[in-house]
Amino acid sequence: MNIVKDFSLTNYNTFHIDVKADYFCEIHSLEDLQELLSHNIFLNNNRLILGGGSNILFTSDFSGLVIKNSIKSIEEIHEDEHFVFVKAGAGVIWDELVNYCVNKNYGGIENLTYIPGTVGAAPIQNIGAYGAELKDVFYSLEGVVLKENKLKEFYKKDCYFGYRSSIFKNEYKNKIFISSVTLKLNKIPKINIEYSALKESAKNYKTEELTVAKISEIVKEIRKSKLPDPSEFGNAGSFFKNPEVDKETKERLENEFEDIISFNTDKDIYKIPAGWLIEKCGLKGFRLGNTGTYKKQALVIINFNNASGKEIYEFSNFIKDKVYNKFQIELETEVNVV
Ligand code: FAD
Ligand code: EPU
Repeated sequence: MNIVKDFSLTNYNTFHIDVKADYFCEIHSLEDLQELLSHNIFLNNNRLILGGGSNILFTSDFSGLVIKNSIKSIEEIHEDEHFVFVKAGAGVIWDELVNYCVNKNYGGIENLTYIPGTVGAAPIQNIGAYGAELKDVFYSLEGVVLKENKLKEFYKKDCYFGYRSSIFKNEYKNKIFISSVTLKLNKIPKINIEYSALKESAKNYKTEELTVAKISEIVKEIRKSKLPDPSEFGNAGSFFKNPEVDKETKERLENEFEDIISFNTDKDIYKIPAGWLIEKCGLKGFRLGNTGTYKKQALVIINFNNASGKEIYEFSNFIKDKVYNKFQIELETEVNVV
């Protein structure tokens, strides 16, 4: 375990914001973590746990210690006739775990192909895409509660998973170091092509061709066609959550904007795509200084050219104001602003 001073985080966040941390430490095992927990620098500083930095916006240098999770391992710990339980270290790259499962024809995370970041961050916002969410296959996770230095196991019911949310994004934010996640995957996969973009692409294949591997390949293609590659344009995926509104609000919007899109998610709860709201404000592919929105997906804010985190944050507030003024809907930020 090695603590580095004045560490540049530019290559550790997908917005590529040029900031530094007072201290930086990479953790490869629980033994490393134990050593860190009794260190003066850990005890006397603010801390931030970092995975792949793909859902973080740094608005200034980080005053304190950044703890980068690099615990890597993939193990099949149990199986029965129908399910296999795969336990992965929190520092494993999420898409590597997806590829591992897809190659073995284990069903459940193929729709979550190509999401950037680490396994340990996946439960934090209950990652989701193309009609699937982590919670659908989540079995348990282990993490060290930092204050008590205690290894604790959380099962699905303990995590309060919701849309882009969990107990780890709220009550336990920065209080627990997630060290591993166990998924319960299907040995007899059930293909899920309910999401409209996926259903559309799947039409090009016969039913028997729609294997876990094929779905993964299709999802990857769709994602590549819609979302910017962070190595080309710094970004953190969707900057805001899709707002969830009640029936009354949805009907008010339908009366005013006849082409509005909405999805019924729960009894009387409707999701309105934030990308649509932003586009309707004339802000799709809009640029302001060094920052702006992606031309193919208005929900993604881009660092075009060495923008500062503050600039991006201010731009996000500008979008929020425009959307509020036009629709009286408050956008909620999805990205973790630090
Ligand atoms: P980081 O950004 O490093 O951290 C995110 C948060 O988790 C921070 O608060 C951090 O402190 C905390 N954290 C990280 N690791 C740990 C740990 N081990 N223990 C405790 N806390 C921890 N998300 C989706 O849900 N669906 C998508 O389709 C999607 N598409 C994306 C596309 C692009 C191009 C990009 C750039 C991002 C996208 N995202 C998407 C967002 C992002 O990929 C996910 O939120 C991902 O899970 C973040 O992982 P990370 O390791 O980079 O987390
Ligand atoms: N839309 C527009 N204009 C835009 C963008 C989208 O009108 O600029 C419309 C689309 O035409 C479509 C609807 O909005 O009818 C939904 O668009 P899309 O399928 O692209 O998905 P999204 O709602 O914008 C969400 C997630 C993504 C996830 C995709 C696919 C959130 C906040 N975002 O985006 O997750 O990959 O669905 O499931 O829920 C992320 O969280 O970082 C992320 C990228």
